[in-house]
Amino acid sequence: MTVRTDKEIIILGIETSCDETSAAVLINGRDLRSHVISSQIITHQKYGGVVPEIASREHSLHFQPVVQQALDEAQMSFSDLSAIAVTYGPGLVGSLLVGVSGAKAMAYAAGIPLIGINHLEAHIYANFLEHHDLEFPLLALLVSGGHTHLILLEDHGQYKVLGLTRDDAAGEALDKVARTLGLGYPGGPQIQRIALKGDPHSFQFPRAMLEPDSLDFSFSGMKSAVLNTLNTAKMRGEELSVPDVAASFQQAVIDVLVRKALMGIRLTKVKTLLLAGGVAANALLRETLNQTLSERGIRLVYPSPIYCTDNGAMIATAGYYHYLREDYAPWTLNAVPGLSLR
Ligand code: KG4
Ligand code: ZN
Repeated sequence: MTVRTDKEIIILGIETSCDETSAAVLINGRDLRSHVISSQIITHQKYGGVVPEIASREHSLHFQPVVQQALDEAQMSFSDLSAIAVTYGPGLVGSLLVGVSGAKAMAYAAGIPLIGINHLEAHIYANFLEHHDLEFPLLALLVSGGHTHLILLEDHGQYKVLGLTRDDAAGEALDKVARTLGLGYPGGPQIQRIALKGDPHSFQFPRAMLEPDSLDFSFSGMKSAVLNTLNTAKMRGEELSVPDVAASFQQAVIDVLVRKALMGIRLTKVKTLLLAGGVAANALLRETLNQTLSERGIRLVYPSPIYCTDNGAMIATAGYYHYLREDYAPWTLNAVPGLSLR
């Protein structure tokens, strides 16, 4: 295996954990030469959510063209690459396997290292792509469709999970409420859009804070409260304002996220909060956190929206830091659908 020792470290990052096939070529952790995302959203929309079997078939179809396009746009070939980084979990097993086996074959054939990336870690590392002055320790609020975590980063690759959801992830709850409101998939962006026309104080949905000092989250009860409100209204023949329900639920979710983030900051005394994951694209969450944290002298950092939802650039960025510490994967790397963050 050849390990490049020259100055330019060129990583091909590959993401296939859910419903996006994506590849990116990144130089030295910050110079993004290409970024291709093939989204399956339209395919899954008619089912109201991701169908795993269809997702893996779509990845199989798009994997090679997406990787080739990323290399072409970067004007590179495999021989230019330092390493290939790929998501190996958590995610849908069939989807992960397409990326892992493809990356493994390409890295082996090119004689370069293979790097296995934890998808959760990559979401956090999306912040390092655009912000080059981040200093540890950092607190990360990772809010996606599958996960809601508060994580302390003590250094590159050193994570302490301080809290996580005990049931639904924030994005999952937004998606389920959106589906019931007839807003389609994925629900988060739809809720954000329609909530602009609603009053966030029209419904007082609960804010689950759990035990007084717990940094865990729970969104299932909050989601059920919305669904019960909608069912009761339906049984009574009442029509509720969809924008008002959406705005009130979005506000409830954001209130919990902001309060838990503040608790985490107080506990860890960190000076910078990293926001990450698909829900980090939410404009109101960004705005509310920005205001709340700036009043307290805490810096808030978040990726551009395109790097919040699943993408290959965040995998390449995380891969770059693995490469620097020569943290390579064995050729036996396998998909780990339930992978957690150590
Ligand atoms: O990180 P991601 O792309 O996939 C997972 O790793 O889960 O996150 C997808 C989630 C979905 O639940 C989607 O509804 C939510 O992120 N999302 C948003 C927004 N954009 C995506 N939620 C709220 N506001 C948004 N603008
Ligand atoms: Zn994700």
